[in-house]
Amino acid sequence: MNILGIDTSCDDTSAGVVVDGRRVLSSVVHSQVELHHPHGGVVPELASREHLKNILPVVQEALSKAGLRMADLDGIAVTVGPGLVGSLLVGLYYAKGLAYVRGIPLIPVNHLEGHILSIFLEEEVPEFPFVALTVSGGHTSIYHVKGYGDYDLMGQTLDDAAGEAFDKVAKILGLGYPGGVVIEKLALDGRKDRIDFPRAYLSKDSLDFSFSGIKTAVALFVKAWRNEAAGNDKPTIADIAASFQEAVVDVLVRKLMIARKRVGARAIVVAGGVACNRCLRARLSEAAAQDAVEFFFPRPEYCTDNGAMIAAAGYHRLLNGERAQPSLDVRARYPIGDLLPPTGRGK
Ligand code: KG4
Ligand code: ZN
Repeated sequence: MNILGIDTSCDDTSAGVVVDGRRVLSSVVHSQVELHHPHGGVVPELASREHLKNILPVVQEALSKAGLRMADLDGIAVTVGPGLVGSLLVGLYYAKGLAYVRGIPLIPVNHLEGHILSIFLEEEVPEFPFVALTVSGGHTSIYHVKGYGDYDLMGQTLDDAAGEAFDKVAKILGLGYPGGVVIEKLALDGRKDRIDFPRAYLSKDSLDFSFSGIKTAVALFVKAWRNEAAGNDKPTIADIAASFQEAVVDVLVRKLMIARKRVGARAIVVAGGVACNRCLRARLSEAAAQDAVEFFFPRPEYCTDNGAMIAAAGYHRLLNGERAQPSLDVRARYPIGDLLPPTGRGK
């Protein structure tokens, strides 16, 4: 089945065509990074207007790269949440119109499920059950993934997402938006053990995260650091980036490995924008080898927001008989545990 997936949940307008939830025919992403860069973060109204401008050409490009016409599509999967309401509305209403005109099913998809299933766009895939860490600018969660559509939330951030912490620290350091890539690059020249930023492990058994404390710790450190006279032992900006990254990675790796052990899964998966981070990948790879389990991660373009992962998730929901009701609306907050009611299962 050829499914077109559309995602406009945040600041990327994306569309992709995927066959049977696995084989990617196309994946097109129009990034808004340049637009939001001067503001140090995503400006919701600008994002919605930019989606309006780009949704049509992005979908057309996805179809032409796939070598398909509208008539070849078996369904349209679209992200309904979580995300920015104004952005989500552009994708949903475009998809609603298209599905109605073509007379094909419209399949509502939870963005987080898209990230979890993005690993199935790769050649090498894990066997169920596995433990997945989805870590991006909007979310940081650990799931026990028992099958398609069968997810238990094991832990999540209580405040900022890890990617948000990268973005905020980049802003504090005057490095612009988005922060992850630039901090990772800067960290290559820094000492990761130079500054001991706090790691919030919370209670002993907790699989939840908290990244607001480290952001504040970096802000306070940088304030004092700016006033410090230059000298041989003054930490460099690269030391700050490397020490911050190390603290975030320590917490993500430790919690994911505890989660894996708790459910006895034989594989771990990391997905979402922060999963592009090479330091995180290297550390998870080491930890997996130590525990003799397999480690999977999607290529960078499937880690960041994309329509192909939404098509993959939509395919399995369609197989399950799920269709959007005509009155379907978007959801700014959409916990994965709420997956069933709004999708109208069983039609
Ligand atoms: O998944 P994504 O494209 O969008 C959301 O759903 O949020 O993730 C974007 C986030 C941003 O916060 C960005 O700073 C972070 O992922 N990110 C990274 C890296 N590349 C992107 N964080 C750390 N290291 C990276 N290499
Ligand atoms: Zn995302």
